[in-house]
Amino acid sequence: MEPSIGLNEQNRSAISTGLERLLAEVYTLYLKTQNFHWNVRGIEFYSLHLLFEKQYEEMAEEIDEIAERIRALGFFVEASFSSFSELSSIKEEEKVLNSKEMLIALVQGHETYVREARRIAEIADRELDFATVDMLGRRMGAHEKMAWFLRSQI
Ligand SMILES: [Fe+2]
Repeated sequence: MEPSIGLNEQNRSAISTGLERLLAEVYTLYLKTQNFHWNVRGIEFYSLHLLFEKQYEEMAEEIDEIAERIRALGFFVEASFSSFSELSSIKEEEKVLNSKEMLIALVQGHETYVREARRIAEIADRELDFATVDMLGRRMGAHEKMAWFLRSQI
């Protein structure tokens, strides 16, 4: 059965396509943050190790929320490393960074996420998809806060 929620298929599809891309961004950022949790070194090791853990745990919950919103809009979720790496504009790290480089890379990742989410929220708002707008508003605030915590240590 197709969802009959006052959003036509074309609009649901446009929003869902945006959310697929955002899912890929946050999944890549999640992995990057976990990578840094494992590989960080230096005198600030312990505080960064814990901060990165707190942040990737928060993103794990978000990943589920975005994927389930795509399902509620009536579409399947593309969930594979190959599709995530194709869709994400945030790129994986190929070498081990020092702690300052890690902080900068994560700030930039969160900022990319927020810009992307803002673009999708604008589409969802235009189509009166308030549930998506609400979710994106909350998630943007969370990413802006994560970026602030990271930025404050540089
Ligand atoms: Fe751990």
